[in-house]
Amino acid sequence: MAENIHPIFDELISREKREAHLQQKSKALWFTGLSGSGKSTIAKNLEYYLFEKGFFAQVLDGDNIRSGINNNLGFSDADRQENIRRIAEVTRLYLHSGIITLNSFISPTQAIRKMARDIIGPEDFIEIYVNAPLEVCEQRDVKGLYKKARSGAIKGFTGIDAPYEAPVNPDLEIKTDKLNIEEAVKKVFDLVQPYITQ
Ligand code: ADX
Repeated sequence: MAENIHPIFDELISREKREAHLQQKSKALWFTGLSGSGKSTIAKNLEYYLFEKGFFAQVLDGDNIRSGINNNLGFSDADRQENIRRIAEVTRLYLHSGIITLNSFISPTQAIRKMARDIIGPEDFIEIYVNAPLEVCEQRDVKGLYKKARSGAIKGFTGIDAPYEAPVNPDLEIKTDKLNIEEAVKKVFDLVQPYITQ
């Protein structure tokens, strides 16, 4: 840390006060899985579901992170690591604001997810493995990227010619080829409700 940057967190309104104000406890729900596995679909639907129940949450995903703060990063190992590092730091700020985050990122390796967990703090990090077989994700090919990866037009695509390491011991696993979206959202909500309730 630069010496002339003064940490002022002690002087700000505390996280506890902010959480009390919002009548919730902030946690990071970390959705990991292949492209097309359904991470962002679950996260976005859950955002609405939580809102209806009086919780205040924010989805962080490629749409609002890779298009802005991380628009100078690609998909090399180093760039993915920097992508997740910045996201984890941003998430810390959200948690200090009392806001629940729904993080939807491939975050493809154990090491990358460990870094995120360490930055955010293990007590605030809930890991949700959104699991759909590669064949299913490739079949869905919502963005047409698997086709491009297979043809070689995109290099280093996760699951094709770049690794995806499944979580060993996630807090929850959602098989999106077996559950519909309502079931998936409910399953995540049932897991996290005790952690986010004051
Ligand atoms: S991560 O690996 O750094 O965690 P992130 O979740 O931010 O990835 O972005 C993944 C999204 O970027 C994919 O859903 C896909 O739309 C797009 N994308 C573009 N190129 C690649 C690639 N080489 N590998 C994986 N996803 C890619």
